[in-house]
Amino acid sequence: MKNKLVNGPQIFPLWQLIRWIQDPLLFQQECCQIYGDIFTLNVQGFAPFVVIGNPLGIQEIFSQNPDNFDVGRGNKIAEPLFGTKSLFVYDGKRHQKERKLLMPPFHGQSLQFYAQSICDIAMEVVNKCPENQPIIIRKVMQTISLEVILKVVFGISEGERYQKIKPLLAQMLDVTDSPLTSSFLFFKFLQKDWGKWSPWGRIQYTRRKIYQLLQEEIEERRSQKNNSGSDVLSLMMAAKDESGQSLTDDELKDELVTLLFAGHETTATSMSWAFYQILSHPSILEKMRKELEETTNNLNPLEIAKLPYLNAVCQEVLRMYPILPIIFPRITKTKMTIMGREFPPETWLTPSIYLVHYREDLYHEPHQFKPERFLEKKFTNYEYLPFGGGTRRCLGYALAELEMKLVLASIISKYSLTLTTEKTVEPQRRGFTISPAGGVPVILLGSVPKTSDHG
Ligand code: HEM
Repeated sequence: MKNKLVNGPQIFPLWQLIRWIQDPLLFQQECCQIYGDIFTLNVQGFAPFVVIGNPLGIQEIFSQNPDNFDVGRGNKIAEPLFGTKSLFVYDGKRHQKERKLLMPPFHGQSLQFYAQSICDIAMEVVNKCPENQPIIIRKVMQTISLEVILKVVFGISEGERYQKIKPLLAQMLDVTDSPLTSSFLFFKFLQKDWGKWSPWGRIQYTRRKIYQLLQEEIEERRSQKNNSGSDVLSLMMAAKDESGQSLTDDELKDELVTLLFAGHETTATSMSWAFYQILSHPSILEKMRKELEETTNNLNPLEIAKLPYLNAVCQEVLRMYPILPIIFPRITKTKMTIMGREFPPETWLTPSIYLVHYREDLYHEPHQFKPERFLEKKFTNYEYLPFGGGTRRCLGYALAELEMKLVLASIISKYSLTLTTEKTVEPQRRGFTISPAGGVPVILLGSVPKTSDHG
């Protein structure tokens, strides 16, 4: 059903799909210029969705009773990757219950356990990179991010199972990495398993192998009486709801793969954009190094995570480069008035991170990288929403922010790097996310000359 309440482009749905896949940012920007900060897109294969780039409209959505929306059923497109027992596709009570079980490993004290591991992994990976030769920073960040997920989330960081599962996970992640294979997610008719050598068959084969290894890991931990690790899997296995029920093996496996997809590409991409910007602005890099040197001599990870300028740099990266062009659609279950318009049930409302983050009235010169804006002003959750909001806000946001800060801090305080291109690196779709085209080529020049001993 076409949304008659809000205008939108009149071009064919198939052409809208092509534009949405090719360049969702430019497409939104053009629509916003013509129709204003609320418009409807009618993309082939999807229900028409209302894109909202107005903070007041977003506030009205986030402040609704969550029972007035379904969200999970709008995410079914991703089900072939992480299954039917995933937080992404749940709604209502089921979603609430699952979120409660999954939340503790991602907050408070649990994060402190992960901090040192993140720094160690970053250094191990970068120490292995060749010096004075071009490298793609996105590849390096993907390696770090995968190792962090394996260690912190899966709790698998060595041994035979680690050796087997790592390449399989990397292969699985490639599905959303390449523009070709990610089209498989948008075009259902391509999802045909013609055996191990066909593209979709290969994905399903890899998925089955990963699930087999995860099942072995879960069974092994259950058989060991003291499975008291601090990784997310251990905490998930120990978690119980009010009625004393824990997650089943099938739920555990789907949730692990969900966390892999939700946490890997997103964080790796944000860190790559961060390097692109700080290497393009030597004065910002200098300020970051100075702050690191002044604040701590021991590179204490928890102290680093609190540094204001480092925090502002990461916030500005997430403002300028939203990883998802829009947040998960909120599908209305009742009549609802948003921005003075009354929408019927079954309307898909999608706040646009991108449109809000590039509003001139909120962010002066939005196309300029200016970390200072986050030191000068505090933005509301409707003006700044890289992790979405309300009851579906990103589960892993605190881990993602911690990882970004610690990886950046560890690398820039030890190594000098330089960009090998003077061209602007443009955002490009990779699967569901928006990534730097070309992956940000850099050269690692060697150690930073030290003014003090970092220990
Ligand atoms: C810079 C990195 C990241 C960004 C920018 C990001 C962004 C987002 C966004 C925009 C959403 C949708 C929220 C909404 O619709 O309101 C989301 C959901 C989610 N994210 Fe992240 N994310 C990041 C990293 C992570 C990490 C590291 C994990 C876990 C390991 C994670 C797990 C999830 C999960 C499970 C959801 C679904 C939440 C739900 O449906 O209740 N994300 N993320």
